[in-house]
Amino acid sequence: MQQLPEVTDPRVIDGKKLSRDIEAKVKEGVLHLEEERGVKPGLATILVGEHPPSKLYVKLKHWASKRVGIYSEDHKFPETAAQEEIIELIGKLNKRPEIHGILVQLPMPKHIDERTVMMHIAPEKDVDGFNPLNMGKMFIGREGFVPCTPEGIVRALEHYDIDPKGREVVVVGHSNVVGKPAAMMLLNRNATVRICHVFTKDLKSHTTEADILIVATGVRGLIKADMVKEGAIVFDVGITWMDDKVYGDVDFEDVLPKVKLVSPVPGGVGPMTIAILMEHTLDAARMQSGKQANSLYNEIN
Ligand code: GUN
Repeated sequence: MQQLPEVTDPRVIDGKKLSRDIEAKVKEGVLHLEEERGVKPGLATILVGEHPPSKLYVKLKHWASKRVGIYSEDHKFPETAAQEEIIELIGKLNKRPEIHGILVQLPMPKHIDERTVMMHIAPEKDVDGFNPLNMGKMFIGREGFVPCTPEGIVRALEHYDIDPKGREVVVVGHSNVVGKPAAMMLLNRNATVRICHVFTKDLKSHTTEADILIVATGVRGLIKADMVKEGAIVFDVGITWMDDKVYGDVDFEDVLPKVKLVSPVPGGVGPMTIAILMEHTLDAARMQSGKQANSLYNEIN
């Protein structure tokens, strides 16, 4: 795996450091929950197929669980697995009290409808925030479990004391995993948000107006210095794997002299995503074991 260089430049968002801070709090919370209620948070991951990056991400999620004291189990299916088999496993995990969070790693093979699968995760165990109930709650401004990567972006902004209210936010990429939820979460915080995507004409005319630019396309080096505004805050969420190395959507060296802040790849939003997943699993365990267990969900279900 790529070694991450020490971040010393104040313009570079140190996702590794931010994630360590989050993990330290989660670890404390896990100990406290065990002492107080005798409950150890539990996370189940589901991986279908042999997509190498997905295998690595799942492994990283289990390593993080271990670091913070969360119990985790790893469910794997072959590429050819039927959708019904996955849904059946989710049904079983939904019923197991020692499992508080369920994560289905995306992307799944083409013959599986990811949205149908996500609908079967119990909303209170949906630590990735992809169940339509949790997505819908985010849409109406009642954020519960929200997707971890956009939450990482919001948390990084909070860390730097940057209020998105009234700022021009441009999101490039309209996926359900990053682009759409990132846009919605910043809209919920009263930013002026526009979403660009593969069919957007004249991308540069939009990106150059962004105070906060979020790029999640998977097109390596798409964003160059001439496409960003002077003093912008840039989040690079793109990941392209090439010869065992990862590259972002932003030409980092090119934009660095122009920006106020930029998240690198690797070492930016990636580690934050995993730390927030740990936090969500702890939150799920707290909710499911508390006095008002699941009240957030019962009122809607
Ligand atoms: N694939 C890429 N990002 C994510 C993520 O945040 N969650 C899941 N489940 N799969 C992903």
